[in-house]
Amino acid sequence: MSTELQQPPFKSGVLRWIDERLPVLTWAYNELVVYPAPKNLNYWWNFGSLAGIILVVQIVTGVILVMSYTPHADLAFDSVEGYIMRDVNWGWLIRYLHANGASMFFALVYIHMFRGLYYGSYKKPRELLWILGVIILLLMMATAFMGYVLPWGNMSYWAATVITNLFSAIPLVGEPLVTWLWGGFTVANPTLQRFFSLHYLLPFVIFAVVFLHILALHQFGSNNPLGIDLSKKDKIPFHPYYTVKDVFGLCVFLLVYGYFVFYAPTAFISPTNFIPADPLQTPTHIVPEWYFLPFYAILRAITFDFLWIVPAKLGGVIAMFAAIGVLFFVPWLDTSKVRSARFRPIYKWFFWLLVIDVLVLGWAGANPPEGWYLVAAQLGTLYYFAHFLVIMPVLGKIERPLPLPTSLSDPVLRGTRSQTAN
Ligand code: HEM
Repeated sequence: MSTELQQPPFKSGVLRWIDERLPVLTWAYNELVVYPAPKNLNYWWNFGSLAGIILVVQIVTGVILVMSYTPHADLAFDSVEGYIMRDVNWGWLIRYLHANGASMFFALVYIHMFRGLYYGSYKKPRELLWILGVIILLLMMATAFMGYVLPWGNMSYWAATVITNLFSAIPLVGEPLVTWLWGGFTVANPTLQRFFSLHYLLPFVIFAVVFLHILALHQFGSNNPLGIDLSKKDKIPFHPYYTVKDVFGLCVFLLVYGYFVFYAPTAFISPTNFIPADPLQTPTHIVPEWYFLPFYAILRAITFDFLWIVPAKLGGVIAMFAAIGVLFFVPWLDTSKVRSARFRPIYKWFFWLLVIDVLVLGWAGANPPEGWYLVAAQLGTLYYFAHFLVIMPVLGKIERPLPLPTSLSDPVLRGTRSQTAN
């Protein structure tokens, strides 16, 4: 955040009058226009703003969908597949924008997180910025899970049953907790209605946490591909340089998003969800949406009781939540003083191993937990935790980093891509 605030360029008039009484325009001008951004940000820095845009798209399309959706177990399926998709003008478009928007949102945020892991953006002084990010991720997961239940298709129903049932593994309070979550003794209308209420509420909570996320970012300014602290002369105003770059990124993103909405709108929807919820017909394979698959694989990888004390089911639930919980500690688990993987020759390889590991976990999660799929899930789970709990702390101590530049014009960078990469 710049220490001295600059005045927006209007001299008089209504805007000036408002700003003198409520300086939101001065604030926005400083945060979004003159914000000093590193000169060398590459395209991986586009993903935060794209995630922000899709968050707004999700809220707007969601609010429109609710105008025609009926949150009742007897009517929800028909209100989506019948009324919205067939009768409401442009209802199909709003519904497909929203359903595919959820997948796009997760894809963008996962890339955004891996960018952070590669360039060490979570390191001092940006630890809280990262923690707010992990909170956003948890909120997104809860929101997406509850949203998936709303069309009340058969996969909605059974996914809700399986996932809420996980809480029954908690000793003593598990069973009453699940009954409380369901609002009864099975997933039924009360469950649908509370999920609807929370699915509407949480995106606004996410919006508020994103606001804090950006404030925390602007407190120390953006990290950059070199991971070094840059002086004023290596920074440029956000506008027009990065507004133009973000608009270009947005155009490319819209091509991908548009492809799914118009040419493959059901690519991410399970065929089972075109059948109304049926408590008497369990699908052969209950599979969550793609963005939950790595965590689902971790949940099912624990097939043995741990030390005879923790039953397998509880072990799986703990492992799944720990897989996200461990992310909170990443700023302290990584003991290296160097931020960017560009100067960490060994970490770089482990980073890519983590990417492959998460993809393997996703593949294992999409398949039944047996044979090679189970072995892949178990090895994947082992590597996942080893990466954060063993490799990160140990490697940070023993790895010899490459010589770090002190600025963008440092001769160390001469002849490398780093100087010009943007
Ligand atoms: C709704 C979801 C999110 C939105 C809208 C969002 C938005 C943003 C924006 C606009 C930026 C600045 C531009 C950029 O660096 O790409 C940013 C930076 C950052 N975000 Fe997020 N973010 C989200 C989720 C997350 C998550 C889940 C994490 C990690 C767990 C995270 C970690 C970070 C970090 C570490 C930075 C600083 C990057 C740097 O300066 O190098 N964000 N975010």
